[in-house]
Amino acid sequence: MVDDILRTPGAVRDAERWTAHNYHPLPVVISSAEGAWLTDVDGKRYLDCLAGYSALNFGHRHPQLIAAAHAQLDRLTLTSRAFIHDQFADFCRELAELCGKDLVLPMNTGAEAVETGIKVARKWGYQVKGVTPGQANIVVAEGNFHGRTTTIVSFSTDEDARADFGPYTPGFTVVPYGDLDALTTAIDENTVAVLLEPIQGEQGVVVPPEGYLPGVRQVCTERNVLFIADEIQSGLGRTGRTFACDHEGVVPDMYLLGKALGGGIVPVSAVAANADVLGVLKPGQHGSTFGGNPLACAVAIEVVRLLATGEFQRRSAELGERLRAGLEALVDKGLVGVRVRGLWAGLDIDPALMSGREACERLAQRGVLAKDTHGSTIRLAPPLVITEEEIDLAVAQLAEVLAA
Ligand SMILES: Cc1ncc(COP(=O)(O)O)c(C=O)c1O
Repeated sequence: MVDDILRTPGAVRDAERWTAHNYHPLPVVISSAEGAWLTDVDGKRYLDCLAGYSALNFGHRHPQLIAAAHAQLDRLTLTSRAFIHDQFADFCRELAELCGKDLVLPMNTGAEAVETGIKVARKWGYQVKGVTPGQANIVVAEGNFHGRTTTIVSFSTDEDARADFGPYTPGFTVVPYGDLDALTTAIDENTVAVLLEPIQGEQGVVVPPEGYLPGVRQVCTERNVLFIADEIQSGLGRTGRTFACDHEGVVPDMYLLGKALGGGIVPVSAVAANADVLGVLKPGQHGSTFGGNPLACAVAIEVVRLLATGEFQRRSAELGERLRAGLEALVDKGLVGVRVRGLWAGLDIDPALMSGREACERLAQRGVLAKDTHGSTIRLAPPLVITEEEIDLAVAQLAEVLAA
């Protein structure tokens, strides 16, 4: 078919014409989806190996989640937190139980959960730990990705994310990721929290050395510092466990959750922590008009119930081994590095062959959608409903791209 009878090129041009260029999307225009598959405006099908950066862990339009959304749309969609609605308590209780924590504070986007965590940690620092007024600091890691607000980009080490957005929020100390000595040294009497991704997703699925997370847990306990785990991308089944921290038996003081919590339908994020931490917030001190709305809660309750079965964590662990085997066989055949945890993989493509962007464009032509992160690194994060055959298909297409 020639370009002018395809709808994609015109739709790509229109999207570029009418939006700020804060993303560099692949030139595909999706119009429908089901499970692990997407269909574009020209009827071409793609295997989704990004899953909305893990926001679609349960696949597109999971029947149980869609049914919950439909039912809620027909009853009640928004109250604001000025009133209590009938989905709110169930959501908070069931998520708190999944996390093993006393309390949950719902928000909308991941960045809002991170901001909430930072605010709670600072208030806890002043009111409970007794740090010097106005001097609280939080230790964070190089290569972090926690979102896009002005405070969060203030401690980003990615210049694209940070440059020209100052003046920057003070109160953050950046240390190398995975270096326990550096982290321990950075903690002082005014440190209120250590904020980390247990696996750095945007950095290319970077898994810290074994023992690092338990070491962070121990030093935080010893120094009376909150351990905040940003599980917004790594959590809720992605790595083969409910939380990435579970792989090393680590329980943080605060979980930050988002993405998959909304079932790929609505933005839902949350902070989960015990009452001695989240209890520092009093009426009027923090909030969100949409946070914890009835539609969000109705969908997220079903997300938590899907996770409570353990089925998705199991699938992710088992199918992740198949993905690992397929990808490791491509090392020295176009890949120079592979990191896999569950159905989450960071692949370093030999930069002499092609960039990550080029690899993703070629994969898209072959009907597989993935996205580059940095330079020659791409990330695979398929929906956890993907099948063995579909994993084999994705790996085979990648092998073809690398061999071409
Ligand atoms: C680990 C982590 N934290 C926070 C965020 C920010 O989430 P959102 O884009 O929903 O604000 C992301 C998004 O990619 C993330 O990966």
